[in-house]
Amino acid sequence: MNQETRIAGCSQFAWRDGELHCEGLSLANLAEQYGTPLYVYSKAAMVERYQMLRQAFGPKAGIAYAIKSNSNLSLLRLFAELGAGFDLVSLGELRRIQAAGIKDADMVFAGVAKQEQELEAALEAGITFFNLESQRELALLEAAGERVGRSVPIALRLNVDVDAETHEYISTGRRQDKFGLDLDSASQALRQIRDSKRLQLVGYHIHLGSQIRSTRPFLEAFSRVEEFMAAAPEHREGLRYYDLGGGFGIAYGDGAGLLDVQALADQLLPRLEAHGLTAVLEPGRFLVGDAGILLSRVLGRKPGGERDFLLVDAAMNDLLRPSHYGAEHPVAAVSRPDRPPEGKVDVVGPICESGDFLALGRSLPDMQEGELLAVFSAGAYGAAMTLTYNSRPRPAEVLVDGESSQLIRRRDSYPDLWAQELDL
Ligand code: LLP
Repeated sequence: MNQETRIAGCSQFAWRDGELHCEGLSLANLAEQYGTPLYVYSKAAMVERYQMLRQAFGPKAGIAYAIKSNSNLSLLRLFAELGAGFDLVSLGELRRIQAAGIKDADMVFAGVAKQEQELEAALEAGITFFNLESQRELALLEAAGERVGRSVPIALRLNVDVDAETHEYISTGRRQDKFGLDLDSASQALRQIRDSKRLQLVGYHIHLGSQIRSTRPFLEAFSRVEEFMAAAPEHREGLRYYDLGGGFGIAYGDGAGLLDVQALADQLLPRLEAHGLTAVLEPGRFLVGDAGILLSRVLGRKPGGERDFLLVDAAMNDLLRPSHYGAEHPVAAVSRPDRPPEGKVDVVGPICESGDFLALGRSLPDMQEGELLAVFSAGAYGAAMTLTYNSRPRPAEVLVDGESSQLIRRRDSYPDLWAQELDL
């Protein structure tokens, strides 16, 4: 294998002479240096995706990185340097922005069950707008505005009952989902906003779900918002932003590819401009998903009743997506992946439950103990959802930039695992 080979969508990971590299560095060397399991991210891949969105949506659009997808401080700094704002859902995420030393970034605050102290802290920090999720929040926002002595900018999250046709757990724009306000409640909320001195309507927000790969739901949702805006004068007064949420889908190794963000921008932006609205986006997975892999070492192979098991040192606590959502991340041998496959295997970790797997029924070469396995497209909701279940230290994380690498999270030590527990 002399030419470069890649997994679809993962532009900065390539096999050269049979060895997987992230940008200019060999993953075998990174595993040697930092140990496994290890998250490895490519800076160039993140920059590339950011530029792709910027190019499509233009200089005026707000790109608010969804912190929840990967909240590592170094990545937050990287996106701030690129000019991104942030989508937060908790006080913890605001504290991360502050801990990263990020000043004056645009920030939007979503979340279905916001609490008083979160609202106050966000208002003090100069939040661009809150996404209003329920009428319950109006009194909280009003009180926060009084205490902080500021007016409270609101982008009302409409539940437009559009099915994003994605996994049940990450679908958020249907009538039965807990998010946003249905149109009747939204009308009532808007009357309350109009009658309040502190509250100020600045836009609408929708977020239909995650891992959406067609433009249709986004366009359909905006049509519903347009109808709603046309219904009454107080539905459109003072509007500046249309926040179309995140959820831009990635390929997970499937040739069909990414959401076509250029097509989305081409179709949506003229419609927004006609209403004088600026686009705000909240991408997470699209920016970081394909930029990261989880690197794991093979512990051995075990014959199974139906299929053999490939035992590796990473487990569901390190990457929850396969067992929690049935997500299918591409997996491959870090060295010479073109060896003939040895039948299909289940890639499983050391955790004591049968739900502990990283991949099921995959064709892989006969990998030996000590070899390395890469799990692709693991940059989003990978490290962010790690657990210490089975008292397993959470993995280290490394950011690669060209020929250099930087440890951006050290592996948990064993004492880290019980550091919060009190010895009574
Ligand atoms: N905005 C809001 C209001 C959200 O709730 C989310 C994700 C995003 C933006 C970013 O979505 P993205 O662009 O990353 O798809 N843990 C799941 C995904 C949960 C998404 C939750 N909300 C997974 O691993 O697939």
